[in-house]
Amino acid sequence: MKADISLLDLQNIPRHVAFIMDGNGRWAKNQGQHRLFGHAAGVESVKEVIKTARELGVSFLTMYAFSTENWSRPSEEVEGLMNLLVDAIANEVDEMHANGVRLHTIGDIQGLPGNCYQSLLSAMERTKDNTSLTLILALNYSARQEILKAAVVAHQLIEDGKLSAAELDEQTFSGLLHTKDIPDPELLIRTSGECRISNFLLWQLSYTELLFTDTHWPDFRRDAFIDAIAAFQKRERRFGMVSEQIQTNK
Ligand code: FPP
Repeated sequence: MKADISLLDLQNIPRHVAFIMDGNGRWAKNQGQHRLFGHAAGVESVKEVIKTARELGVSFLTMYAFSTENWSRPSEEVEGLMNLLVDAIANEVDEMHANGVRLHTIGDIQGLPGNCYQSLLSAMERTKDNTSLTLILALNYSARQEILKAAVVAHQLIEDGKLSAAELDEQTFSGLLHTKDIPDPELLIRTSGECRISNFLLWQLSYTELLFTDTHWPDFRRDAFIDAIAAFQKRERRFGMVSEQIQTNK
C-alpha cells in the first residue's frame, strides 16, 4: 500500500530524525552487484529522504555516513565511499542551496581525505545561512570520542577557572558536543534489520524513539519514510512520566 501523507498528523512531525543507513552491501549482493553499487543507490535514498523531510517539515536530518570504525573496510570501499561523497556534494550542492538546505557535519572531518574535507568546507560555507532544513552528515564520527573530547574540554575549562564544577550541568555539557545548537533527535531509524546503536549519538539519543526496519537503505525511499513517521506518531513519549500525565499535558 502506498504511504499516505494525509494520514500523518502534521502537528506532530519530529523536528529531528537521525538515520543509521545500513544494508547497502547486502542490497547490492542480493542483486549480484559490487558493494559500491549499493552505496551509490544509497545516495539516491539520501536525496529522496531529504526531499521528503522538506515536504513534511522536518528541520534536522542526521545521517551516519561514515564511522571511525568504517576505516577498517577494504581500502577500495573506503576510497569509493569518499569519492561518492565528493561527487554527491558536487552534483547536489546547487539544488540543496536553492532549496534552503544547510549542510553541517559532526565527526572529525579533518581526518578525511583532503578533497573530501575541502568540498565539505566549501559546501558548508556556501549553505551556512540556509534555514529550511539542516542536513548533518556524521563523518569519521564516533560518539564515544565525541563524549570523551567534551569531557576533556570541560576539565580544561574548570582547570582554567572558566567554569565551576557546579555549573557543569547537562545543558553545558551538551554545548561541548559536536551537536551543540542542534536539538536531540526525536526519532532514530536504522535500516536493514540490525538492532544496534553502533557508537552513534550516544548522549543525544537518551529520549529518542528507536525504529528498526528490515528495509535495506537503498530501498528506503519516500513511502518508507512516511511509514516510519506514522509509526513514530503512534508511540507515546513519556520522558519518565506516567501515561496519565502525558494525556493531561497535551
Ligand atoms: C552501511 O551499509 C552504509 C555505510 C557504511 C555508508 C553509507 C553511505 C552512503 C549511503 C553513501 C554516501 C553518503 C552520502 C551522504 C553522500 P553497509 O555497507 O554496512 O551494508 P551491509 O551491512 O549490508 O554490508
